[in-house]
Amino acid sequence: MNFSTIIEKKKRSIELDEKEIKWLIKSFVDNSLKDYQMSAFNMAVWFNGMTPKELGIFTQEMINSGKTYNFDGVDGIKADKHSTGGVGDKTSLIFSPLVAKFGVKVAKLSGRGLGPTGGTIDKLESCIGWTGEISEQKFKETLNKVGISIMSQSKEIVPADKKLYSLRDVTGTVDSIPLIASSIMSKKLVIPADSIILDVKMGSGAFMKDLESAVKLSKTMISIGKEHNRNVNVMITNMDKPLGRAIGNAIEVKEAWDTLNGNGPEDLKELCVIAAALTLVENNIFKNLEIAKKELYKVLEEKSAAPLLKEFVEAQNGNFNLILDYDNSFKVKHKIEIKADTDGYLSFKTADDLGYLSVLLGAGRATKEEQIDFAAGIYLNKTTNDFVKKDDLIMTLYTNRNDIENFIKTAKELIVLSNQKSEDNLILKLISSKDI
Ligand code: URA
Repeated sequence: MNFSTIIEKKKRSIELDEKEIKWLIKSFVDNSLKDYQMSAFNMAVWFNGMTPKELGIFTQEMINSGKTYNFDGVDGIKADKHSTGGVGDKTSLIFSPLVAKFGVKVAKLSGRGLGPTGGTIDKLESCIGWTGEISEQKFKETLNKVGISIMSQSKEIVPADKKLYSLRDVTGTVDSIPLIASSIMSKKLVIPADSIILDVKMGSGAFMKDLESAVKLSKTMISIGKEHNRNVNVMITNMDKPLGRAIGNAIEVKEAWDTLNGNGPEDLKELCVIAAALTLVENNIFKNLEIAKKELYKVLEEKSAAPLLKEFVEAQNGNFNLILDYDNSFKVKHKIEIKADTDGYLSFKTADDLGYLSVLLGAGRATKEEQIDFAAGIYLNKTTNDFVKKDDLIMTLYTNRNDIENFIKTAKELIVLSNQKSEDNLILKLISSKDI
């Protein structure tokens, strides 16, 4: 078998067979296939897609590239959750303690930042020492101890996704339905959780820019789940504006902590509560969404799930005191205030422009090798549809990089002030396995 035949076929939309896909993934994982070859393959998939048969085999081979974990020795219900990626999306850090508070264990694999979107693993690593590359035994121990464990892809579990993911991040090949669906579903299928909720983001800060493609991605992932006898619930949610006010890494963990302590932005609270409510109803903890949401809002007001975030971070060797002492722990060279040039209702040109600005400040990667600056990021002092007056503080940029004039210019260019509010619906559609 050779790569030239495979890439020629993919380039001309000729269906690949099982042997070819197996060989491709195996060779990529054992490094005999080079990054530049796999990048060419990914780009061909970006243009030509995959047939359902190819996608089924590709996802299975991603799973087969490592071990699958079991829950032997871990009692109770286990829930999984995943987002397709958005700007300011720290939902998993709030969702997990909320769900665990009701006795449902949250067991999941997460990813790093991709393009302008952040990743749970990068955010958690800002609690220095925290690691998502843990053994099956440690995963189970953490679940038994705290009721939450989050892993990253590793040499042991979905190594194919670990390698593909970081390559796609820097080669313009993230926003492809088959590549996203196989990446996410391979991470969900290596763990036998009782429920899976997927948050498919749609809008300018998401990989799916319109409802049609968001529904297509949702149905593709539900179908992969069905092939593996797994029930998948999807919520399609708005990513035309960032979620919450913090964009970055440590700054997002801080916002998650504040939210669990009753001080979160309304949109973030609502999204986390709905995702948690869907999970708790699916697992028969509550009869319906309304009751579940009421109980979850109560937990946020009472701050009773917050300690679980700290315990979970510490159980996976992270230093949560850094977040508790945020201002001293994450000092930066430059704190840049961006103010309004005129009056008007605020919106941002696109949410992904804000994500790219945070990457520019040091919060994301431009190359695979680049190190993240955990302290870099953006805080939105005002947010979409706030009415601002000339000279009001709109956002604060935190960075250790010196290109200040460029940061100010970029930030100012993405601010829109107009005389009317923009559309602002958070939850756009719910789809479940039963619907397709
Ligand atoms: N999240 C993932 O895990 N993979 C993707 O490809 C996109 C978002």
